[in-house]
Amino acid sequence: MSIGGEHTSLSTEGKHHMTETALLGKTILITGGAKNLGGAVARDLAAAGANLAIHYRSTRDKGLAEETVEACIGAGGDAIAIQADLTSVSAIQQVLDTTVRQFGSLYGTVNTAGLAQGSPMVEVTEELYDSHFDINAKAAFFVMAESAKRIEDGGKIINILSSLLAAFTGRYSIYAGSKAPVEHFTRALAKELGSRRVSVNNLAPGPMDTTFFWNAAADGEAEYSANATALGELTKVEYVVPWVRFLMTNGWWLNGQTVFLNGGFSTR
Ligand SMILES: NC(=O)c1ccc[n+]([C@@H]2O[C@H](COP(=O)([O-])OP(=O)(O)OC[C@H]3O[C@@H](n4cnc5c(N)ncnc54)[C@H](OP(=O)(O)O)[C@@H]3O)[C@@H](O)[C@H]2O)c1
Repeated sequence: MSIGGEHTSLSTEGKHHMTETALLGKTILITGGAKNLGGAVARDLAAAGANLAIHYRSTRDKGLAEETVEACIGAGGDAIAIQADLTSVSAIQQVLDTTVRQFGSLYGTVNTAGLAQGSPMVEVTEELYDSHFDINAKAAFFVMAESAKRIEDGGKIINILSSLLAAFTGRYSIYAGSKAPVEHFTRALAKELGSRRVSVNNLAPGPMDTTFFWNAAADGEAEYSANATALGELTKVEYVVPWVRFLMTNGWWLNGQTVFLNGGFSTR
């Protein structure tokens, strides 16, 4: 039986088989895939046998992207690295075209690219505002739309948002504000692609222990954020990774939603 692109069976053996093989030979694009969350997700999906297109932005990260490609190949998948600034639609199209040209198809997209700078609203310049909306909202929109044009039936699109969407806080107006529209993009695209059994969802981690967080955080914010969770610590990359695998495989019935992955930091 084939549902949502997965092969299912009611037998225990069959279930095991589904988990092990659902991503074998499937092509998945990860934006921001060289390091931190994207790098860990890439390695995990490669271990499930997927072909990974690892997008990265800064030339500074070329070495990290190559390391991630090697790690993915070592883990059992195939992988390439693609450099691009995703704030123009033509760059997004090129990244997707390169992915499909290399591997012949597209099964999934994990959009982890994002930008955060903590700043009180009175200090936000027009340039800072635009830079956040360009990557967090506009690029997310076109990564989703351009993926939708190429994705196979039963495919999956996952955006990484933020648990700040369910928080009441200062300093992150343009960060949370520019991630918020993606929830609407996700609902729309989930409806539009439903007849093709494509699921579109968002994962919204809590403050997560990566350079991304530390570069934006104010003094004392890490301690505050850790203490604000029910479980008493910051979100770690490895707490998020299994959810991406799940949504890419057995979790396909979740659709058009945002899952707050934060140990009990904020809720909605
Ligand atoms: N860390 C947290 O506290 C936290 C919490 C919740 C959600 N998130 C979200 O999780 C995702 C991954 O974050 P992370 O912590 O793993 O940090 P990260 O590795 O820095 O991820 C962000 C990625 O987006 C890329 N990017 C930024 N602007 C871009 C542009 N114009 N074009 C193309 N790529 C661009 C960055 O590239 P460069 O490094 O080259 O700029 C980087 O690879 C982000 O969407 C973030 O908003 C993070």
